[in-house]
Amino acid sequence: MNASVATERLDRALASARDALASAATLADVAAAEREYGGKRSVVAEVREAIKGLDPADRPVVGQALREFADSLASAVADRRDALSAAEAESRYALERLDLTLGGHARPRGHLHLVTQVQRELEDVFVALGYQVAEGPEVEDDWHNFEALNFPPGHPARAMQDTLYVDLGRPEQVLMRTHTSPVQIRSMETRELPIFVVAPGRTYRNETLDARHSPVFHQIEGLAVDRGITFGDLAGTLEAFTSDYFGEAVTARLLPSYFPFTEPSAEFAVSCVFCHGAGCRVCSNTGWIELGGCGMVDPNVLTAAGLDPEEVSGFAFGFGLERMAMIRYGVEPIKTFFDNDVRFLEQY
Ligand code: DAH
Repeated sequence: MNASVATERLDRALASARDALASAATLADVAAAEREYGGKRSVVAEVREAIKGLDPADRPVVGQALREFADSLASAVADRRDALSAAEAESRYALERLDLTLGGHARPRGHLHLVTQVQRELEDVFVALGYQVAEGPEVEDDWHNFEALNFPPGHPARAMQDTLYVDLGRPEQVLMRTHTSPVQIRSMETRELPIFVVAPGRTYRNETLDARHSPVFHQIEGLAVDRGITFGDLAGTLEAFTSDYFGEAVTARLLPSYFPFTEPSAEFAVSCVFCHGAGCRVCSNTGWIELGGCGMVDPNVLTAAGLDPEEVSGFAFGFGLERMAMIRYGVEPIKTFFDNDVRFLEQY
């Protein structure tokens, strides 16, 4: 052996040691490769053995080559060992992983009833127009529910209201309010001018349940009273409300009607939100959906509430909240709102 043979053998041994390490799949394979290329029966052991028989001039060269071989092998072994132990640790962790997640106590969050949502949206629309939200009692007296609203005793319009009376005080003097209109009177009695209020709330009628009528339902009332309020203000307000709530494409229409507490009175309809006037099932092919009533506050009503009809005027409007929701969301029958079946409620 001479120096060049020895270094060549070491170079080749290092190359195959690197190959063997690269294909070592386990730490045991690495140990085997280390033994094979660095152990007692390896090429490096042979060269180390042969060094004594070499020409003295060759010895330092081969000695240097041996040290380099040993360093290179050691670092290749260490690299491969590190890589394999990291991978092994990873897969062991994956195997040993314990899922300690607790079942938890998720509480499904509820939300507002659809009618309440509609009520709040309507309040928002009118609050944005400068209105305040007013309230009145559900158990009313005859004065606020009828008399002051220009329904004298025996007036035929009283019979149309299917009143539920409460057995309290003089007969037929205390009742479940049949509409939110009594809040008009209460607002005029207690508030300073100008009055701009909306009054949402529950109302009651002695009515048999059918697809569109329920003995308990909700209305929202509007009232504007000040000096110089005109029918044009009413029409403009309803138009503003309509496009705000239903969208710009929907318009409002007023047709002559009758209510004891307004003069003139009108029926308030919007162009069908589904067919936009073309005619469909929801609007019974008329292109219009009737929402409620409105009109200029009757002078008798202003007087009853303590205001002077020569000085002030006002307009009022009122419509049903369930009806609003039925139209907007296609809900029927009306009793769906009161069944409180979560399968219905959670859809909105
Ligand atoms: N209170 C009426 C009803 O329940 C609805 C109504 C009509 C309210 C005309 C109003 C109005 O304020 O001006 O049938």
